[in-house]
Amino acid sequence: MKEFTEENLADAVIDRMSPQTDPRLHEVMTSLIRHLHSFVREVELNEQEWMQAIEFLTDTGQLCDDSRQEFILLSDTLGVSMLVDAINHRRLRGATENTVLGPFHINGAPVCELGTDISRNIEGGLPAFVSGRVLNEHGAPIAGALLDVWQVRPDRLYDVQDPESPEMQLRAKFRTDADGRYYFHTIVPVSYPIPDDGSVGRMLTALGREPWRPAHMHFIVSANDYSPVTTHLFVRGDPYLESDAVFGVKKSLIVDFKKTTAAEAPDGSSMETDFYSAEFDFVLVEAS
Ligand code: BEZ
Ligand code: FE
Repeated sequence: MKEFTEENLADAVIDRMSPQTDPRLHEVMTSLIRHLHSFVREVELNEQEWMQAIEFLTDTGQLCDDSRQEFILLSDTLGVSMLVDAINHRRLRGATENTVLGPFHINGAPVCELGTDISRNIEGGLPAFVSGRVLNEHGAPIAGALLDVWQVRPDRLYDVQDPESPEMQLRAKFRTDADGRYYFHTIVPVSYPIPDDGSVGRMLTALGREPWRPAHMHFIVSANDYSPVTTHLFVRGDPYLESDAVFGVKKSLIVDFKKTTAAEAPDGSSMETDFYSAEFDFVLVEAS
């Protein structure tokens, strides 16, 4: 009978896998078991720490339901989401860079006319006009591209975090016009803390970390025959750009929200108050 030791236990677990195991699952599990065992050996995990880890993961799972995904938040705050994103979306031929989807996207936002105000007269917030084009890698406009947009409210919560909220606050989809243009009215996004009242929040506190994300708007930009891009636009000057709790900031996605005096907005609508305008062209590459 073989004796298991600190040194050979990982191999013994790996050897138990059936040779018929799906090859990719076999590859991933072999590596996972090796790294997990070597981590436990390296830090010489004690039994109390092991139990604390089990309780932490249990709490994380128990916090998950249809409207909250604490495991995604854990992945985000450990930088794993951005690592998976980086590996799977290596920047192709000048395409707009990807960043995290986050847990607050929902399907079914209404397709709105260009120029719609997606803040739908929400209280608070600085009026903003966001516009630009969707282009291909050669700079040609893509007509009929779809932009799915969502952003946090001025009270730093997404509509889905507030059971009293009207549906689809600060969410909309837009289709680009024949020149690849999109434009809409909204409010300047604000920075906000990620949900920190659960196990991930406890982890951040224990590690002396902040839960804040810099102000941003989310976009999923797609068009027939092109690879879609899931991304954000970040507000230049935000104090949390360097310390995003989920490591999602990329320089190419930081835009100016320029203060503009009350006048005609770029889409011809009249603005009665000063507003902030931001412009950004998204670039999609053809799907291979
Ligand atoms: C977000 O930007 O909506 C988000 C991303 C990752 C974790 C929490 C929130
Ligand atoms: Fe967000």
